[in-house]
Amino acid sequence: MTTNARAFLGIALVAFVGACSSAPAPSAAPAPQPESAPEPESAPMVEPDAEPSTADAIFTVAQAERGQELFRAVCSECHDEADWTETGFKNRWEDQSVFQLWYYINDRMPYDDPWSLTRQQVTDVLTYILQLNDLPAGDAELATDDDSIDDYWIVWATR
Ligand code: HEC
Repeated sequence: MTTNARAFLGIALVAFVGACSSAPAPSAAPAPQPESAPEPESAPMVEPDAEPSTADAIFTVAQAERGQELFRAVCSECHDEADWTETGFKNRWEDQSVFQLWYYINDRMPYDDPWSLTRQQVTDVLTYILQLNDLPAGDAELATDDDSIDDYWIVWATR
């Protein structure tokens, strides 16, 4: 549960107890349950130690190329590619989630004009950073929504 959700429950409880002393408690009608949930034909196999990561071909070559164009147009004013392949950079981001690196770029870059990139641009340039580190490209682009970005851990070694 998130802290916000806990705080909300706390407030709701206080309000509920308060209501008991003066007025009848509101009836909490349980949501109707379906008689029986249909069983999925076959449960998807999930390997317990196979956490999805940047080693899993999570972007396409075309996407990384768009990222490279953005790099040349915007980022190269202050960065060169070596900034994102050097050991210090890799150690800082290893085992973080793609989400964290995504939001770092989204919230802070370009340094002189943060929040100026679209979600697509942030995502594309992030995949360019992955490609620079020889991580594999695949058939599907990395999508730009939070859920998709949050699916993956950053690892620099290919499997
Ligand atoms: C105007 C200069 C400037 C531009 C343009 C710029 N950056 Fe940066 N970037 C910086 C500076 C300065 C830092 C270090 C910030 C800090 O340490 O607080 C940085 C840090 C970073 C980092 C973290 C590096 C690390 O070692 O952890 C990433 C990733 C990054 N920039 C990505 C980008 C991308 C992607 C673009 C282009 C969309 C971009 N930057 C454009 C100046 C710039």
